[in-house]
Amino acid sequence: MNKLPKHVAIIMDGNGRWARLQGKNRVKGHQQGARSVREVVEEATKKKIEFLTLYAFSTDNWSRPKDEVSLLMKLLVSSLKKEFNRLITNDIRLKAIGDLNGLPNGVKEELIYVIEKTKENKGMVLTLALNYGGKEELTRAMKDIAIKVKNSIISPENVDQSTIIEHLYTQNLPAVDLLIRTSGEERISNFLLWHIAYAELYFTKTLWPDFKKEDLQKALVDYTKRERRFGKTSEQLTS
Ligand code: FPP
Repeated sequence: MNKLPKHVAIIMDGNGRWARLQGKNRVKGHQQGARSVREVVEEATKKKIEFLTLYAFSTDNWSRPKDEVSLLMKLLVSSLKKEFNRLITNDIRLKAIGDLNGLPNGVKEELIYVIEKTKENKGMVLTLALNYGGKEELTRAMKDIAIKVKNSIISPENVDQSTIIEHLYTQNLPAVDLLIRTSGEERISNFLLWHIAYAELYFTKTLWPDFKKEDLQKALVDYTKRERRFGKTSEQLTS
């Protein structure tokens, strides 16, 4: 049996479908999705998960209808305000990954405020991926490294995996142990491409607004039963 994962990442999918099934506007799906975020964060804290990373808004989500994008941004700000006290009492440190400069000013300011106020917290690190794309993250890292090589700050012979890691948005985040995706889709959708190299993947048909603490518990139990070989053989692991 594995120990519980250190780093859990979640692709929260199915808000729109949940709303449609209820005969409601997509907005309701996202609002209900925000409630699942609260419950899952609380449960992850109780389970002593050290890192939880949530895919909240991808670089491709800008192509959604303008009203939906604007609602999602408003929901983010209101959730950050509403959950602030809970983050403090649960000792959670908030972080964000992605091109934050591309976010509306109000969102960026609120985010930076909460990140700053929670930075000394010692409990779970909760990372929101916002305006995030895995390919964009890798491209940006390669460009930064190329510039440093050009300016003789780094010598090309010394470029290794740790050089790349240092240039990712995620710098101090460990590799993902368990990646969960809700709603029945079985795709990675440009999320944390570098960090999921050896992640265990868990797909569930449950739509994100219906994903509650029991669903997280189920995913964690499933994870503990997986054999993580990291390229080795089963026999090597047991010997
Ligand atoms: C995917 O469902 C969900 C999103 C693109 C946004 C995730 C946002 C939230 C859960 C709300 C608040 C977040 C935080 C961090 C407070 P979808 O709209 O793609 O669903 P569909 O595939 O069924 O249309």
